[in-house]
Amino acid sequence: MILPIVAYGDPILKKVAEEVPENFENLKGLVADMFETMYNANGVGLAAPQIGKSIRIFVIDPSPFADDEELSKEEKEELKKGKKAFINPQVVKRNGEDWAFSEGCLSIPGITEDIFRPEEITLTYRDEDFNPHTETFTGLMARVIQHEYDHIEGILFTDKISSLKKRLIKNKLNNIVIGKVSVDYRMRFPKAKKRH
Ligand code: NI
Repeated sequence: MILPIVAYGDPILKKVAEEVPENFENLKGLVADMFETMYNANGVGLAAPQIGKSIRIFVIDPSPFADDEELSKEEKEELKKGKKAFINPQVVKRNGEDWAFSEGCLSIPGITEDIFRPEEITLTYRDEDFNPHTETFTGLMARVIQHEYDHIEGILFTDKISSLKKRLIKNKLNNIVIGKVSVDYRMRFPKAKKRH
């Protein structure tokens, strides 16, 4: 089922999300809905707060990045197999140099900004069967994971840009809050004006 994506300005995007209990009802169904919602919006990642649930789950599939000519064969293979769900992830370690990448977000349509993040991340998480994993990710996998991890901590990429850049996009952000933005997927705007 495709769910509406919560837009910038909704307070749920600023909340630290809650742990998912092991007996959580229909976890697999929710994860399947999140993948469907993400693919429908041509996204590479989606976190539960973005569908209005303040719980520690996110899904990623960075395979569209595998088309990048500059990547090595190994990196391309890793991205192609990158479809994954993370339940109760916890960052263990961040490593390597910070590098910039132009990020966007399904909750903030029409805006992209260069964001600096470390090259490598190690985290513990549960899969959909609640089996525990500890894994290290690099490059674009680590990039997408860190963006989504921020979502369950109540952080958006627009929180990481300079105040000057933020001023420059202020009008665009205000327009998203009221739904004055064109998107080709279903969204829920915090202060949408009624349409007739
Ligand atoms: Ni996002």
